[in-house]
Amino acid sequence: MIFHTQLRIPGPTPLPERVVRSMNRPMIDHRGPEFAAILAEITAGAKRVFKTKNDLLLLTSSGTGGLESAVANLVSPGDEVVVALCGNFGERFASLAAAYGAEVVRLEFEWGQPVDPDDLALILQRHPKAQVLLLTHNETSTGLTNPLRELARVGRNAERIVVVDGVSSISSIDIETDAWGIDVAVSGSQKGWMAPPGFALVSVSERAWAQQEKARSPRFYFDWKEARTWAAKGMTPFTATPGWPGRRSQGCRRWVSSSSLRTVSGRTR
Ligand SMILES: Cc1ncc(COP(=O)(O)O)c(C=O)c1O
Repeated sequence: MIFHTQLRIPGPTPLPERVVRSMNRPMIDHRGPEFAAILAEITAGAKRVFKTKNDLLLLTSSGTGGLESAVANLVSPGDEVVVALCGNFGERFASLAAAYGAEVVRLEFEWGQPVDPDDLALILQRHPKAQVLLLTHNETSTGLTNPLRELARVGRNAERIVVVDGVSSISSIDIETDAWGIDVAVSGSQKGWMAPPGFALVSVSERAWAQQEKARSPRFYFDWKEARTWAAKGMTPFTATPGWPGRRSQGCRRWVSSSSLRTVSGRTR
C-alpha cells in the first residue's frame, strides 16, 4: 500500500495522481519537436489564465527567479523603486530590489492588513521618478489578498510599470493582467497550477519591454530577450529543469489546455 503525504501548504501543492505517474517516463530532448509543441501549448494556455495577450515567458526557476528577472530587466542601480508591502513576500521583493542597487521606497502596512490604494497614490505622487512599482497579490505569509485591481489602476494612472508577485495567486485567484493594466505578472508552477516546482511564468507588456531596453542592471540567465528569442524557436535558452516542460508538467499542461479553463479559487480556499 502506498501512503501519500497530505500536503496542506500553499505550495508545492499535492499533485494529481496522473501527474505523479507521468513523472515516471524517460527524458525528452529539450531541443526537439516534442518539447517545442509542449512549450507552445503551455504558453498559450497560461496566457488564458493570466488573461493577457502580452508575451508570456517560461523560465527555469522557482517563483523567486521570475521575480528576480523582473528586477534585473526593469531596474537600473540607483533607480527609485516603490514597493508596497504587508508581509514576508513583500519584504523579499524589497530586498531583491535593494540587492540590485535600487533606492527602495517602502510603503509599509501592518502584516495582515491590505495595501491601501489611496496611500499608494500619495507615495507615487511624492516619488515621481520611481518608474517601477512592485506589488504582491496574495501575501502568502499571512494569507491576505491585496486589492490588486485597484492598486494596479493607481500604478497605471501614475504611468508606472506595474509588477505583480502573483506566485501563489495566479491560477488560484482571479487576475486580469491586461484589463487591470499590469505590465509584469509572475507565477510559480508549484502553486495553484498543481505542477511540480521548477518553472516561473512571467508575462511582459510592451511598456515593460520598452523599460527593459533602458534598464542597466546586469542580467544573463534571466535576460527576458534571450527567453523570448529562444521561445520563438520552441526552446528555452538554457537546459530546462529535468523533465520540464516534458511530461513532468502534465499538471500545468492539463490546466492550461483544459477547455473549461477557469481559476480554481473555489477549490483552494
Ligand atoms: C507570494 C509569494 N512570492 C514568492 C514566493 C517564492 O516562490 P519560490 O519559493 O517558488 O521561489 C512565494 C512562495 O511561497 C510566494 O508565496
